[in-house]
Amino acid sequence: MADQVPIITVDGPSGSGKGTVSQRIADRLGWRLLDSGALYRLVGHAVAQAGIGFSNKNKISEIASKLNAEFKDGEVWLDGIDVTDLIRTETAGNNASKVAAMPGVRAALLDWQRGYAQPPGLVADGRDMGTTVFPAAGVKIFLTASAKERAQRRYKQLKEKGLPANLAALTADLKERDARDRGRAVSPLVAAADAVEIDSTALGIDDVVELVLRQAQRSFAKPP
Ligand code: DC
Repeated sequence: MADQVPIITVDGPSGSGKGTVSQRIADRLGWRLLDSGALYRLVGHAVAQAGIGFSNKNKISEIASKLNAEFKDGEVWLDGIDVTDLIRTETAGNNASKVAAMPGVRAALLDWQRGYAQPPGLVADGRDMGTTVFPAAGVKIFLTASAKERAQRRYKQLKEKGLPANLAALTADLKERDARDRGRAVSPLVAAADAVEIDSTALGIDDVVELVLRQAQRSFAKPP
């Protein structure tokens, strides 16, 4: 199935704007969206809830393989509980990054992610969409932005939500997560050899969306 369905992968570090860009592209094309980071966030959340600690790799992989999650209308549910906001905190992001370094967890989530490749098309947002999960995707984007810009975006988002935010702490956190995501042995954060790199430091979301859509028009035989 994944071979016949048009797929756009959008990979990159935290705060590069992947999530918003992927959502807009999926809306514009009427395609499905895979927010793969949400899966790792769910596993991290489930582990924290279970209180088993982040060193028990076997148990954590088991949790990942039995994850009872549901995505509906922009909400994320785990074991019948709405966890949409709970999995978006900085702590949840850090926990996600920890479980994402475990090969057993990544293996447990692989088929689930590939199952998202359904007509009319898929926009897949993550770290290894173009390298590991959908290596045959027709369009691969690697979206970056400077660490300073990414931390500032996150700071602004938190402030707008009325949540406490500290720019220095956010920057440190982001760098720590980048290092873990880039340095892990399995499926590290890296641009696929055939990915188009877009630096969004000085670009608005709309500019990035247009660049990706133009790339899609060029790459897919039938313009989307
Ligand atoms: O995209 P995000 O911030 O929601 O992702 C949360 C964490 O999950 C991130 O630190 C790295 C990890 N992740 C991953 O390893 N592979 C993916 N495809 C998506 C996310």
